[in-house]
Amino acid sequence: MEDAKEEIRARLAVEDVIGQYIELKRAGRNFKGHSPWGTDKTPSFMVSPEKGIWHDFSSNKGGDIFTFVMEMEGCTFREALEKLAQQAGVELKRYSGDDKKMAQHKQRLYDALELTTKYYQYCLTKNKAVMKYVFYQRNLNKATVAQFRIGYAPKSGRALVEFLTKRGFNKKEIEDAGLVNRLGGDLFKGRMTVPLMDVSGRVIGFTARIIEKDENSPKYLNTPETLLYNKGRHIFGLSQAKDAIRRSEFVVVVEGNMDVISSHQAGVAEAVATAGTAMTEMHLKSFARMTNDIRLAYDGDEAGVKAAERAISMASKFGIFLSVIDDYHGCKDADELIQKDPKLWQQATQSYRPALEWLLEKYEGKFNLRTEKGFAEYAAEAKRLIDDIEDAVLREKYERMVSERLGISLEAFRAKKVAAPKKKLKKNVAVQGDVAKISRAEKNLAALLKYGDVKLEGFEAAKVDEGELSLIFDELYVKLGKNEREKEAQILLAKVERERMKAEREELAEAIRVAEEAEDDEKVDELMRQMQALDKKLVH
Ligand code: UTP
Ligand code: MN
Repeated sequence: MEDAKEEIRARLAVEDVIGQYIELKRAGRNFKGHSPWGTDKTPSFMVSPEKGIWHDFSSNKGGDIFTFVMEMEGCTFREALEKLAQQAGVELKRYSGDDKKMAQHKQRLYDALELTTKYYQYCLTKNKAVMKYVFYQRNLNKATVAQFRIGYAPKSGRALVEFLTKRGFNKKEIEDAGLVNRLGGDLFKGRMTVPLMDVSGRVIGFTARIIEKDENSPKYLNTPETLLYNKGRHIFGLSQAKDAIRRSEFVVVVEGNMDVISSHQAGVAEAVATAGTAMTEMHLKSFARMTNDIRLAYDGDEAGVKAAERAISMASKFGIFLSVIDDYHGCKDADELIQKDPKLWQQATQSYRPALEWLLEKYEGKFNLRTEKGFAEYAAEAKRLIDDIEDAVLREKYERMVSERLGISLEAFRAKKVAAPKKKLKKNVAVQGDVAKISRAEKNLAALLKYGDVKLEGFEAAKVDEGELSLIFDELYVKLGKNEREKEAQILLAKVERERMKAEREELAEAIRVAEEAEDDEKVDELMRQMQALDKKLVH
């Protein structure tokens, strides 16, 4: 992979890659432009053609062409690599035998899953009782069953494993495709099967529903995470919905996979589902690439409200118009409504309300506004949500709405102070590069240490790309005398040490939260002591 990276770097000029996104002007040895992330008045984005790197002074990000594309496109390293390889005319396949082996292995998994889909489809045609369930109880028609490739996994414990083995797939391949249980037999048994597909329609796994009610097993069994299936990224029904979404410029997010299937049959082909209600930032990003009109069709229950809350706080960052479909005519989900009358579902998807408005109304039901406690809590929750809105006009709309509702002045509501909600550590959002993780002060200090002839005993700066450091040094410090540089280094050092202590404090707080959840009192005490010691240092 390193070889491929080097080859691409050698073939592409950094200013050309970046020049596709922002206007660059030559400034001496470097290029300068306006930051694509900040709101700089003077150009603060620098590109060094010699070093093949960039640094953005307004957002403190920096890196090479790969990190730039990752940041701009919000994509993974792999996706950036593929995009740039294409521009450079570099064939990725030719690099690294490991990668080739992996690609071949993945292809075998795709093949096994495709064959399994066909096998399950065939098994359905051989089972009258299940056919009855699919066609009469679920009311699906032939075209829908064919489009979603619905099938049936036979009851006997090893039918699929034996079938695939006969067709030349080995144990590891069948396992890696996510098709076996812990005992090495079939994972899906006696269930209606629905393939999970990627955007292009390739099968990457299954979800499988029990047919007869059985208290002892879960309603749905799903493929575990595999090389091909990633739950937090996958969107059910996207391959079938994407054309409609692009055409009508909206997407309807429902809770269940069966809701998606019914919805398509009912003529609303813009419907998709995330696994359960757990919408991730990755899901939202995928939607945002296609449309900014996202309509949530979640249940109005606790889980649905929680899901909407999460989606609302994520959506404001992406410039998405999030709305909620909540008129189910008393039905519990989209599928039930469709069974009653497909027209009602079609209408429901056209009569939606802004998600925030809907959520605020839910809160009114949750907090008793006539009591002082309820009044204060409602005001705090509302303020927190509204403060997150980036668009000033929209923000004012909601500020007015809530203050009128509470019978207080707009000014009083605006002046209300609320603690920022505890930010969860984002652990699995591996989409963006980590280029902004090292603070501005730390990068600047590292630049001084590297090129400024400054020494600091016992201090070790974080690792930053040398090119980026020299760019920073040239821009900020090259004209300073040695005394000034040393003074600057001392100021930065104090800042960096504080930052590090604060980061440590955050980690401690998170550890305390975890220990509290685990009810490990001893650990909580110990961590609290560490925290107090740290706090003492922080006030000095
Ligand atoms: P629901 O229970 O609402 O499913 O779960 P549904 O689509 O209405 O199913 P039917 O109509 O009873 O057949 C919603 C989603 O939660 C996940 C599935 O992704 C399902 O589509 N789920 C639910 C599971 O993964 N496992 C379960 O046991 C239940
Ligand atoms: Mn249902």
